[in-house]
Amino acid sequence: MTTPKSIPAKVTVADHPLILHKLSLMRDVHTGVKEFRELAGEISLLLAYEAMRDLETMPETLSTPLTTAEFPMLSGKKLALVAILRAGLIMADAMVRLVPAAKVGHIGLYRDPQTLKPVAYYSKLPQDIAERRVFVTDPMLATGGSAVAAIQTLKDAGAQSIKLMTILSVPEGIAVVQAAHPDVEIVTAAIDEGLNDHGYIMPGLGDAGDRIYGTK
Ligand code: PRP
Ligand code: URA
Repeated sequence: MTTPKSIPAKVTVADHPLILHKLSLMRDVHTGVKEFRELAGEISLLLAYEAMRDLETMPETLSTPLTTAEFPMLSGKKLALVAILRAGLIMADAMVRLVPAAKVGHIGLYRDPQTLKPVAYYSKLPQDIAERRVFVTDPMLATGGSAVAAIQTLKDAGAQSIKLMTILSVPEGIAVVQAAHPDVEIVTAAIDEGLNDHGYIMPGLGDAGDRIYGTK
């Protein structure tokens, strides 16, 4: 409904009907904490399907009960999921079920409500992040400040292959991320119209962290 007609390069809008339906339920102000969390996790799995579409595979010889043949198995760089706290945690927690061998990093950022600038308070990343394909998770890409700061933290730690996964984005946030980090692909469920005067995504779904954790 709100996705713009022209999608910027390096942005994938995973607008599958299942995702759109679940996202509409997340937007609904009447959706409670339990359902909101479940929906965020389910959408994250569906987004991961899209974001990880280009993972490399190599044929490996395996025996089925009937024969021995070559079958594709994941190969190439190992993976890291990096959650932007708080809200990104729900996405990484869901995705780790799909890729149980992935290492998980955490970057703590909150958005100052007055300046809307990100304030960093925590960072713990896998030591071998430079050798891993990194999937950064945060449900909301609003001004883009948090994503830009998180990606910079990852690059400072040596990360070279980074994808950003969000549930909702706006054109201005995407533009800010692409200007600062043109190498980073973004996979999102929807691109909304824009931001209100308080930096909230419109029509959006409200404060993702508060809705996931039942704060406020
Ligand atoms: C939210 C959201 C993003 C950030 C997006 O986090 O989860 O991290 O805002 O806004 P931006 O694109 O304008 O930077 P918030 O600061 O509310 O912290 P929380 O996840 O701890 O609630
Ligand atoms: N962070 C949120 O949680 N929601 C928004 O709409 C914008 C930033």
